[in-house]
Amino acid sequence: MRKSGSEDAPFLPDHAGFWQAEIVEQCRLARDTYRIRLHAPELAALITPGQFVMLRCPELRDPLLGRPFALYDTIDDRDGRPAHVDIVYLLKGKLTHLLPKRSAGQELEVWGPLGNGFVPPSRAQHAVFVAGGIGQTPFVALAKELTGRRRYGRPPRVVSQATKVTLCYGARSAEWLAGLPDFEAAGCDIRIATDDGSRGHHGWVTDLLAELLETADVDWVATCGPEVMMATVARMTAQRKVGCHVSLETPMACGIGACFSCVVPVKEEEGGWDYKRTCVEGPVFPAEQIAWEV
Ligand SMILES: Cc1cc2nc3c(=O)[nH]c(=O)nc-3n(C[C@H](O)[C@H](O)[C@H](O)COP(=O)(O)OP(=O)(O)OC[C@H]3O[C@@H](n4cnc5c(N)ncnc54)[C@H](O)[C@@H]3O)c2cc1C
Ligand code: FES
Repeated sequence: MRKSGSEDAPFLPDHAGFWQAEIVEQCRLARDTYRIRLHAPELAALITPGQFVMLRCPELRDPLLGRPFALYDTIDDRDGRPAHVDIVYLLKGKLTHLLPKRSAGQELEVWGPLGNGFVPPSRAQHAVFVAGGIGQTPFVALAKELTGRRRYGRPPRVVSQATKVTLCYGARSAEWLAGLPDFEAAGCDIRIATDDGSRGHHGWVTDLLAELLETADVDWVATCGPEVMMATVARMTAQRKVGCHVSLETPMACGIGACFSCVVPVKEEEGGWDYKRTCVEGPVFPAEQIAWEV
């Protein structure tokens, strides 16, 4: 089922489709973290980095509502056409605890692509991603795009390439770090921080960003993860006048702009503030727009 919509707003849900997508495979990437591969050729052709999909189990009434998951990557078939969509999920609540029990050949309901996604600036020489916890998921595809390894969207969009892409990735401990080989293959320079010091820097992932902002020419920062981390990244980049975008993981009910369960307070140019819906006006926002509540 696919609907058409106005061509000047390609991120609006009018451009999304709804599919019963067959599970191709599942694998465990890290503690409580899995990658699920869905056969969804049209979705794989349309979706761009930073956009998301809603997933649900078709035959279940509990959970009734879909859950949002960022695009991890798309995979081509043997003829080089986009065929599969990869999602990486952390066990959290009802749906994510059900997903590992699903095997290849079973189906999931998926609707997307949703949200605006990342639009990297045209002159980002050195792009830095700051990810905390499961917040690394939107950055594999974005890294591949920025390093010229893959293109996304229909028609495949052209983004200006970065000369360097650095991933600063923070986790509780080494066993929670998911997808490092994918980031290596995407051409990222990887810097790790763990809360317990079991791998990389013993401390906050924002310490790694502070070092980069001090010593390297950073043109653009994108961040996703716990709100307090993103708020810190927003403050640090604002102080240095470095452009920053945040990808919010606000809880969502409908994913298509109808229920207003996903609103975030944003600052307005005139000095006031308003609510915006993360599912349609986000999930990616300029960091300086967000009225952080932490
Ligand atoms: C745009 C977007 C992209 C996302 N991408 C990913 C991804 O790639 N991988 C991934 O693992 N997760 C991702 N998430 C988060 C994921 O959607 C939630 O964790 C989801 O609730 C999991 O579903 P569940 O049924 O397992 O948990 P639920 O039963 O829905 O929730 C379990 C608990 O988590 C709380 N909760 C629900 N949603 C959130 C949230 N967004 N943040 C914090 N707490 C929440 C609930 O209040 C509840 O206490 C994303 C969220 C958004 C908005
Ligand atoms: S989740 Fe319903 S409006 Fe955003």
